Amino acid sequence: MQQGVIILAAGKGKRMHSATPKVLHKVGGKSMLEHLTGLAARLGETSPIVIYGHEGEKIQAALAEQSIIWVEQTEQLGTGHAVLQTLPHLDNDCLYLILVGDAPLIRYETLSQLSLAAEQTGIAVLTVHLEQPLGYGRIVRQEQNYVQKIIEEKDATVEEKSIQEINSGVFAVRGQLLKQLLPQLENNNAQQEYYLTDIVALANAVGHPVVPYQISDADEVLGCNNKVQLAQLERIYQQRQATQLLEKGVTLLDPSRIDIRGQLAAGQDCCIDVNCVFEGDVILGERVLIEPNCILRNVSVGSDTVIKANTVIEESIIGEHADIGPFARIRPKTILGHQAKIGNFVETKNVQIAAGAKVNHLSYVGDAVIGERVNVGAGTITCNYDGAHKHQTTIKPDAFIGSNSALVAPVTVGENATVAAGSTITKDVPDSALGITRSRQTSVANWQRPTKK
Ligand code: UD1
Ligand code: MG
Repeated sequence: MQQGVIILAAGKGKRMHSATPKVLHKVGGKSMLEHLTGLAARLGETSPIVIYGHEGEKIQAALAEQSIIWVEQTEQLGTGHAVLQTLPHLDNDCLYLILVGDAPLIRYETLSQLSLAAEQTGIAVLTVHLEQPLGYGRIVRQEQNYVQKIIEEKDATVEEKSIQEINSGVFAVRGQLLKQLLPQLENNNAQQEYYLTDIVALANAVGHPVVPYQISDADEVLGCNNKVQLAQLERIYQQRQATQLLEKGVTLLDPSRIDIRGQLAAGQDCCIDVNCVFEGDVILGERVLIEPNCILRNVSVGSDTVIKANTVIEESIIGEHADIGPFARIRPKTILGHQAKIGNFVETKNVQIAAGAKVNHLSYVGDAVIGERVNVGAGTITCNYDGAHKHQTTIKPDAFIGSNSALVAPVTVGENATVAAGSTITKDVPDSALGITRSRQTSVANWQRPTKK
């Protein structure tokens, strides 16, 4: 059967105390809503339907790149009323997964299983056993273990309140059944809301038994009403990612001290020390070693490379057997060749550094092409910016740049050329030549230093 996804996101999220709509708050660097639309893209054949209420413009702007059917619920009259707004968009023969916008930890496999469970009768509900079911809708089962009805906490009898199987809020329902049942919902209950949960009893009445699909991991259906819960979701999400990496053979010195806000792919025998943050798409080859306190954002790192402590790398490509840091800052469009070395307090930007080249101490290299085996001495600066335009520095293979040199771009230092320490180079240095721009040293004999009076 064709699959669709409906996401309930009309709640205000008042308890978040934030100007950002609740479903746009992030878990693992991605909004809760995007976690769900991401699942929808894998599960559904049609664009997901998102029901929004407050601050629709902000939510739509945040997901502008995605194909989504937006449905407004102008007044929040209950979960059933929310789904009712989608009726004009529903297809009779499509099976809809109804998801809760502020519960982003639900797994793809769980939703696939829930869909399968719904195939026979057209309706299934995702449930979980909780030791403390307070506040949740309870699952009242009937003989053949189908669900007879869901009763909300506020409407439950003492006996019903003792039931520990709860409604996760997630359903799979055939479109035709939703169209038939949603208009029948009434709001004669404790909260005077149109409860989506009432479709269970209604489905039974028209001969569609409701299949419960119970999962054991209650974390999957945890919702988020405030920042405390948001922080809990984040920890659970990070723990899951860390476990996946460990299971693939990556060594994490402390799995509770790694944060992945995007995708991290790591080859065999990589080792990641504590307090590293990975953002966007990060790819590590094999045997990559990352020391503590590094941040890597949209980076690929070749095998056997070592990234030493306190290094920040963004939007760059790092070769094999390279050595970076500690305290290096690798800015966008840095391409580092194999066995290249970047040392402490070095900043790079838009630069190609070929194999075996070294920029070991206290330098800035930007808008440059640096050849193989070049040695850039301590304190070298590429003066790439004249206040209006950026210019390129080219350093050919095997050149040697003496310490504390300023290379005023555009400029080229030839192959095997040398720049004397302390030079300000404004003209090209030919191959194999020495470029020197400092005055000769003289000595004044028997120099008398001033003395204190
Ligand atoms: C709901 C279920 C309850 C279940 C619990 C799981 C109902 C009646 N009850 O209760 O059985 O155990 O979730 O967390 O469905 N929303 C709208 N429009 C509305 C009302 C709600 O879009 O008019 C959205 C909310 O933004 C939220 C979701 O629906 O994402 C659930 O609403 P919420 O008010 O949290 O329902 P609960 O009372 O928690
Ligand atoms: Mg809720």
